[in-house]
Amino acid sequence: MNQTHDHVDFLVIGSGLAGLVFALKSASMGRVLVLSKTRLELSNTEKAQGGIAAVMKDDPDDSLEKHTQDTLIAGAGLCNETVVRHVVSQASDRIRDLQDWGVHFDLDEHHNIALAREGGHSARRVLHIEDHTGHDVHRQLLARALENPNIELRDHHFAVELIGRRDVEPGCFGQNQCLGAYVLDKKTNEVYVQTAGHTILATGGAGKVYLYTSNWEGATGDGIAMAHQLGARVTNMEFMQFHPTCLYHSSSRNFLISEALRGEGGELINHKGEAFMPKYHALGSLAPRDIVARSIDAEMKKSGADCVFLDMTHKPGEFLRGRFPQIYKRCLDLGIDIATAPIPVVPAAHYLCGGVMTDIHGRTDIQNLFAVGETACTGLHGANRLASNSLLECLVFSHNAAYWIREHNPILASANRSYQAKFPIPNWAERRNRNESRGGQNEDELILVSHMWDEIRRLMWAYVGIVRTNRRLERAKRRLANILQEFDEYYSSFQTNADIIELRNIATVADLTVRCALARKESRGIHFSLDYPST
Ligand code: FAD
Ligand code: SIN
Repeated sequence: MNQTHDHVDFLVIGSGLAGLVFALKSASMGRVLVLSKTRLELSNTEKAQGGIAAVMKDDPDDSLEKHTQDTLIAGAGLCNETVVRHVVSQASDRIRDLQDWGVHFDLDEHHNIALAREGGHSARRVLHIEDHTGHDVHRQLLARALENPNIELRDHHFAVELIGRRDVEPGCFGQNQCLGAYVLDKKTNEVYVQTAGHTILATGGAGKVYLYTSNWEGATGDGIAMAHQLGARVTNMEFMQFHPTCLYHSSSRNFLISEALRGEGGELINHKGEAFMPKYHALGSLAPRDIVARSIDAEMKKSGADCVFLDMTHKPGEFLRGRFPQIYKRCLDLGIDIATAPIPVVPAAHYLCGGVMTDIHGRTDIQNLFAVGETACTGLHGANRLASNSLLECLVFSHNAAYWIREHNPILASANRSYQAKFPIPNWAERRNRNESRGGQNEDELILVSHMWDEIRRLMWAYVGIVRTNRRLERAKRRLANILQEFDEYYSSFQTNADIIELRNIATVADLTVRCALARKESRGIHFSLDYPST
């Protein structure tokens, strides 16, 4: 038994926006440990382009009501209206937090905050930093966290499994309690026990479950899979949002072309140069994302073309270079001058609206386990997220979770520690019932893992994509069942490593997605079924 494990007040799994905001907000209450499974700066947060939706106080052209209604309309009847109103009304305070931490948003010519427009928004309300908002916000917050003596950040530390009280206390009934996590130190290849008073899942999304995605490499739904394994409810998994415009280029398959370009008048055109969106929706290219993605899919299927195009040639090069420097440069490097040529684009898996079910404080079904950011399903997005509401959700829910803990149980950590002394937690080898000490991975195992990864991502793209049918979903379900069974057979003999755990996680997330999609006998928001076309 491992009884000498490290203990912290807050174990934050994830160093994206949600994790860092929680860490900064809770550091005055106790010792915070933040884990990142690769480098600290890699995440979906770092890739965010468009910005953060917020109605700033005293904006004469916008209102909280308008932001609320836009969010509810995008969410297609599944948002929790109380949550939406709560989030929208907190936005300007949470933006103030960012400014206090040193974030500077772009200003207009009158030195007011410059506001952009994106799909589904009835006003300009997206605060941004050129087209690399996420990168700059993240860099500032990481600097604040690194200089805080109560926050420790560990890169390349991979949470493998959550530890539940029921796992260590025989005969424990009632609500399960999270005691921490098993963590793989990728530098030493050892799994250690990390206990905590509170465990915060801030592990981000799951775009890598699909073959084509705008997401970073590590978006494998780890938090969702781990929470599900512990018995927390996971919900709305059928609502994977496809971003309409990812760059289509053989040497760059997951680079996003921000919706903010369409906010500046960018027009979607087909291979014949026709603007097709007005055929599908009154808002044309600025229609809500689900509608634009489906319309592009329909145009591509009709014509057999590999992509459609986003035309920005109405804007001068000088404007494009100043407002969208990252996108301009990336396209130019690939031989596309966006001031003179349309950009080839396709839809790709972008944002998971479902996830670990939480209340307004980020609390899950498991005591002392919170979920914040993209890994959570809070009720804000419903069946389809409004653009730029995601970073806002990270800010609000991480604030709420820290605030709730401060108000309700600030010293639970020490209580947990004595609990753990009473019920010692098995080390990882005992937990897995196998000796982990042998050398490297064998080559056959690695090939098998990479085949299974590939198979899952391809089948999700082909059968659980933008347009679904019962037949395709059933086929996906059967193939996933085989893969999961095969995985179980091999798992016990494999040495623990990050690839295998990520495979387990994407298989779990894919399976949950298909089960949710089969259960929804209608089309709604992002989930569109040819067998049930009405809502
Ligand atoms: P992430 O930022 O993805 O962070 C996840 C963290 O969890 C990482 O540190 C990772 O290492 C860690 N992690 C994961 N699993 C483990 C594990 N098992 N063990 C240890 N650590 C782990 N939203 C907007 O509102 N506005 C935008 O303009 C916008 N643009 C976007 C552009 C792109 C290209 C993409 C992909 C997304 C965009 N989004 C945007 C969505 C938004 O960026 C994300 O939803 C948000 O950043 C998620 O933040 P997060 O903190 O929840 O997760
Ligand atoms: C974008 O810039 O288009 C992404 C915005 C978002 O996902 O909210």
